[in-house]
Amino acid sequence: MEIIDNENQAKEVLKDFNETVLVPTMGNLHKGHLSLVKKAKQVGKTTIVSIYVNPLQFGVNEDLDNYPRTLNDDLLKLEQAGCDFVFCPSDNILENIQKYKAPDISKKLCGKSRPKHFDGVVTIVRKLFEVLNPDYAIFGLKDYQQFLIIKKFFKKHNFQTKILGGPIIREDDGLAMSSRNNLLTPEDRKIAPKIYEQLTLIKNNIKNKTHSELIINSIEAFKENNIFPEYLTILNPETLEDANESDSSVLIAIAVKLGNVRLIDNILIN
Ligand code: PAJ
Repeated sequence: MEIIDNENQAKEVLKDFNETVLVPTMGNLHKGHLSLVKKAKQVGKTTIVSIYVNPLQFGVNEDLDNYPRTLNDDLLKLEQAGCDFVFCPSDNILENIQKYKAPDISKKLCGKSRPKHFDGVVTIVRKLFEVLNPDYAIFGLKDYQQFLIIKKFFKKHNFQTKILGGPIIREDDGLAMSSRNNLLTPEDRKIAPKIYEQLTLIKNNIKNKTHSELIINSIEAFKENNIFPEYLTILNPETLEDANESDSSVLIAIAVKLGNVRLIDNILIN
């Protein structure tokens, strides 16, 4: 496994490799990230993981300084996973960076409480694509809105890189794996599995009740555990507009703040 830390080196080294697959990350890697690396190895011949905690996607009151940085551990895990290249640039990558606006669906869901977040995401991912020029890039469906925004953004800008999604990897109790789970207090960690529990309940009853009944019932159940979702909603997975009861394909999406920790999760029904 080769570690690359600057743009020129990346361009020089990677020009001799084909069928390259990029997995962009911010490090602090867990099994969710590693599942994407595994998928990358199945999709192409050369696996590149980028590790960069991107300041452009953090709001002023968000946890940029406290974001867990565990580079040595991450490199060990990537080596074991059979990754070929790790790109870990310094903040020099932001010098003279061209900034981009995310498509309009970025204003929905997480965009309401994180207004500039997705602009920061598309800006850095585009920069990574320009430097690494991958044939494929893989994103987790855990961040479904991010996945959809990236797909739409690069289609609009005519990039050749194919965007793929990987399924959500969960803890044994159903909680979606996230770098943020470690920041939960023991009490909040205990109630966090309620998030997936309610999503599953909605999924299992989607044909028996109206969407608003399902949402109201879940909000009530959350209230009993002192959980007040920022959003809980049943949407069309392409437009992120409210879904109809007759729709066969829907996204059930939620964001919850437990203490200072913001968690998101979703179930996609196809
Ligand atoms: P990060 O939060 O590190 O996530 C990197 C990738 O791992 C994302 O595509 C995310 O959806 C995926 N991922 C995280 N948890 C997962 C889980 N439990 N199961 C499956 N996939 C999971 O997302 C980002 O970084 C950044 O916004 C980035 C795209 C790197 C741009 O800075």
